Amino acid sequence: MKMRMDYNNMLSDRIGKDGITKEQFEKAAGKIEKANKAMVEKRKAGKMAWRDLPYNQEAVVKDILDYVKKMKDDIDAFVVLGIGGSALGPMAVQQALNHPFYNELPRDKRGGFPKLYVLDNVDPERLVYFFQTVDPTRCLFNVISKSGSTSETMSQFMIIQKLLEEKMGKEASKKQIVCTTDAVNGNLITIAKAEGYKYFIIPSAVGGRFSELTPVGLLPAAFCGLDIKGLLVGAAQMDEACKVDDINKNPAHMYALLQYLSLQMGKNISVVMPYADSLKFISDWYAQLWAESLGKAVDLDGKTVNVGQTPVKALGVTDQHSQVQLYAEGPFDKNIVFLGVDEYRETITIPKTYGDMPSLGFLGGVTHNQLIKTEQDATEYAITKAGRQNMTITLPKVTAHTLGQLLYFFEVATAYAGELLNIDAFDQPGVEEGKNATYAMFGRPGYEEKKAELDAAPAKDKKYVI
Ligand code: PA5
Repeated sequence: MKMRMDYNNMLSDRIGKDGITKEQFEKAAGKIEKANKAMVEKRKAGKMAWRDLPYNQEAVVKDILDYVKKMKDDIDAFVVLGIGGSALGPMAVQQALNHPFYNELPRDKRGGFPKLYVLDNVDPERLVYFFQTVDPTRCLFNVISKSGSTSETMSQFMIIQKLLEEKMGKEASKKQIVCTTDAVNGNLITIAKAEGYKYFIIPSAVGGRFSELTPVGLLPAAFCGLDIKGLLVGAAQMDEACKVDDINKNPAHMYALLQYLSLQMGKNISVVMPYADSLKFISDWYAQLWAESLGKAVDLDGKTVNVGQTPVKALGVTDQHSQVQLYAEGPFDKNIVFLGVDEYRETITIPKTYGDMPSLGFLGGVTHNQLIKTEQDATEYAITKAGRQNMTITLPKVTAHTLGQLLYFFEVATAYAGELLNIDAFDQPGVEEGKNATYAMFGRPGYEEKKAELDAAPAKDKKYVI
């Protein structure tokens, strides 16, 4: 089963003056050649280690599956403590592949696997309420942090570690914690080794938002009974398609080029609109990948560029009743990526209850599968008629295999877009300022200068607080 991308409606031939022209493609030839070269060279130089993940994790997968087998019957819930790239992927994969009400199902209907929770935020209410609903001594807490030092994750870890030790004693509580982190960098690996926690390694050359196919995503997925080998096989299949130099045959490179050209035309917003609840959190995962990778102040030549494209998450058909009015008639500042599926996992038919009422009768005997698909087609038609750029990515069915293709596709597209924009897609300097300010506000040693800078900042004027 193969994912496909239809970009007809990005083109001027189809949508008129706001579409991408043949001349724009021709003009980009030099950039494409340069980007192709950079992708190959960077991969060879080990700067895109995430591209090897579909191939080099046999031992890791075995370790994960053995560990799941050993632990799963002793726990009620698997709880991820992580944020950003260490949380969004696990949520997206779980939502995509498992029952939408997985945690509500009785255990035998979950295949005997534990529930899954992802506690990414540090809103105090969340953690307190969470402990009102679960028995922590029956949970396995997966502390995920590539850097091993993220305040949100490490603070949750410290709270939970203390709680478990109080309830179970230090020794017994050790098996309730498993860490996923870098082999050398950060505090988490040091702690895991010192405390004797089980741990899994995130390869050091793989950055947070590109880490879903490492134990970051594979371990939570395996604990929920998902086919992690299938995810990797799907990714490997997409990798083959993404190695091709000819951009007309390379879906991820073409996606990036279309977005790049669209951006040049002032489309500063990239809407991703899945027509499947199962793919809803893929938009969240994509939003981080696209925003954090491509939103950059400075290019690779040191020039100030302030580039990027704002990802917007939407859901079909829900957002037809919310955002689509804006997409069809508002400013020409966005393109829309519809994410569809050919075959939903279930079918439900609308009864022929009100056959004599024309406004309801037409629905009788129609399936929700037909309704959602038709509404997707109709929205695509309306958006296209309004001359708005849009494209459609379709999965034949949402499976581990097609999901692996989709995740990998977006990762390659992001990296390629970075090359076209001539920026470093793998760093995130803009996130640092806020992190450093937090450290300074807490008086963390080493941040005295930042503290002085904060103290010297002008106070807010009360007259503007009403
Ligand atoms: O993509 C990134 O690097 C970030 O979004 C990280 O995933 C996020 O900040 C969490 O970092 P860490 O995994 O180091 O705790």
